[in-house]
Amino acid sequence: MKPIRKAVFPVAGLGTRFLPATKAIPKEMLPIVDRPLIQYAVDEAREAGIEQMIFVTGRGKSAIEDHFDIAFELEKTMAERGKSLEVLEPTRLGPGNCAYVRQQEPLGLGHAIWCARAIVGDEPFAIFLPDEFMVGSPGCMKQMVEAYNRLGGNLISVLEVPRETVSSYGVIAPGARDGDITEVTGLVEKPKVEDAPSNLIISGRYILQPEVMRTLESQEKGAGGEIQLTDAMARMIGTQPFHAVTFAGKRYDCGSKAGYVQANLAIALGRDDMGAEIRAFALDLLK
Ligand code: UTP
Repeated sequence: MKPIRKAVFPVAGLGTRFLPATKAIPKEMLPIVDRPLIQYAVDEAREAGIEQMIFVTGRGKSAIEDHFDIAFELEKTMAERGKSLEVLEPTRLGPGNCAYVRQQEPLGLGHAIWCARAIVGDEPFAIFLPDEFMVGSPGCMKQMVEAYNRLGGNLISVLEVPRETVSSYGVIAPGARDGDITEVTGLVEKPKVEDAPSNLIISGRYILQPEVMRTLESQEKGAGGEIQLTDAMARMIGTQPFHAVTFAGKRYDCGSKAGYVQANLAIALGRDDMGAEIRAFALDLLK
């Protein structure tokens, strides 16, 4: 079984739900306290043993490339002033550890992944949607890689949501269940509540076999007029093993404003340097 060495981060979406904040700043650069969303996703990939980060970017996303580059003037000035550069350590991705590819038009998540096909090559790979913010120890991808090492094939992370909210997500049809692993027998993107096969939604982390790229090649537009990754994966069920992993941690949907604010509050409350101050403030505010 080939190990998971590469991760694709699709970051070419328009982020319209966060306008005007995302007019000139990529959604993925919005911070949770003091770290951008994309940094958390890259850290999660590293924790899972992934070595190469592939970013599918678009116009207006150059801040992401700058974030993972050396900031020469900043670092020189900080060093001269005797300031520690430790905080910048995780932001450095050397040339061997990152690659950028452009999605010229935002034609959908499936299309964004397909844009990375030449760099992914013929090996299984991970996908991270950075606006799905996963908090836990071990991290979501580490948990998935461990499951992959036992099961192989294709894996997606899932979580249970109230049934009336499923229409915003990709939903799985569940088969046999064994602990945190559920067999996937079908997949549908943004179903109507009455048509949804379950209330288990895909939550932004995948491990897929390279054959998905060939499937995406011929994928027609689906929900929202976009080329959907879920539709391509659905066509692979039956030809390859497909399992869902229920993440043992917490997930915040930072593509939505409420989820983003909740994530900031939760992380701030858990921090040693500010937790007590934020707790006192929140309690006072709620009085
Ligand atoms: P979303 O569905 O959250 O879309 O994409 P979006 O454009 O980022 O945000 P809204 O809905 O307009 O507010 C899920 C992920 O897929 C990427 C996004 O960057 C995000 O990480 N994506 C989506 C692409 O890279 N390309 C696309 O064509 C669509």
